[in-house]
Amino acid sequence: MKIRFEERKELKQKPDMNNLGFGQVFTDYMVVVDYDPEHGWHDARIVPYGPLGLNPGAMIFHYGQSTFEGLKAYYIDEHTINLFRPEKNFERMNNSNRRLCIPEIDPKEFTEYIIEALKIEKDWIPREEGKSLYIRPMIIATDENLGVHASKTYKFVCMFCPVASYYSSGIEPVKIYVEHDFKRAVKGGTGFAKTAANYAQSLKSQEEAEEAGYAQVLWLDAIERKYIEEVGSMNIMFVIDGTVVTPELNGSILPGITRASALELLRDKGYKVEERKISIDELIEAAEAGKLDEVFGTGTAAVISPVGEILHNGKNYIINGGKIGPVAQDIYDTITKTQYGKIEDKYGWITKINI
Ligand code: COI
Repeated sequence: MKIRFEERKELKQKPDMNNLGFGQVFTDYMVVVDYDPEHGWHDARIVPYGPLGLNPGAMIFHYGQSTFEGLKAYYIDEHTINLFRPEKNFERMNNSNRRLCIPEIDPKEFTEYIIEALKIEKDWIPREEGKSLYIRPMIIATDENLGVHASKTYKFVCMFCPVASYYSSGIEPVKIYVEHDFKRAVKGGTGFAKTAANYAQSLKSQEEAEEAGYAQVLWLDAIERKYIEEVGSMNIMFVIDGTVVTPELNGSILPGITRASALELLRDKGYKVEERKISIDELIEAAEAGKLDEVFGTGTAAVISPVGEILHNGKNYIINGGKIGPVAQDIYDTITKTQYGKIEDKYGWITKINI
């Protein structure tokens, strides 16, 4: 592993860590690695965070050829940082890369680059529980070329943001509504990949949801227009009559790492779990019969986010009295205590970094 370091002349002022939102503050440095067909991935460097200097003709701006990831670093003590399942992020990034015709990266090597940067950026990791340093790696197409083809050159860029909760409500339940007009993804498309296009197309719904006082929308499948998929910034789980039900991965849903971790925990803790198709009608029937015990989302940014209200066809369904339920609380506690090193890392999910 070889990475060079270009030091900043002056370090940035640290933000008020008690007043962090999500993804608005960027640290002193970023990791950059270039790709071209002759050299492969090369010239890994930690450089001051700042503009990339791309020309307007760069393909990323026109055809959106890109992938990204999200993971978090947790402050444990002055000598230790925890990362949560970083190998899963780079595995998923490579799955996304294959779909987007982007060259794969070496997960081990790129994890090492990030670890090197974290050692330099350690003072940016918030120390309070519930906060962390969000790590956002991305790959973008950099050829200057307006032909619709895969680019030949790319840039891997990884930036770092001290963050609090994704939703301003924190662990307080969010309100979502069922999106009937727009669709997020279709099997055969890019729904399973973490790529900008999936998020760009969701913005119209997101804007409308926010205007109406909702945090996010619940996406339905694009073909039958009735099976629940995900929420966009998180996967979704329902507790129906004591059983945890979540949409099965079908090619159009993002395979969340928090989703997979939550499912493993739930099964291990003895909860009944079903990964299967679930229609909006089944969900509403359960709600009307008083059997929809809990709803919660899972995601790196969102962690475990309870949903307190779902709007469907003009009717609001209040879930668990608008409060976080026992299953969501249990999984939230176990995942976050594992991430912050408060309980044994039973599943080997933590990469410990000595600083
Ligand atoms: C994450 O959970 O890390 C994500 O990438 C979701 C997001 C779009 C904020």
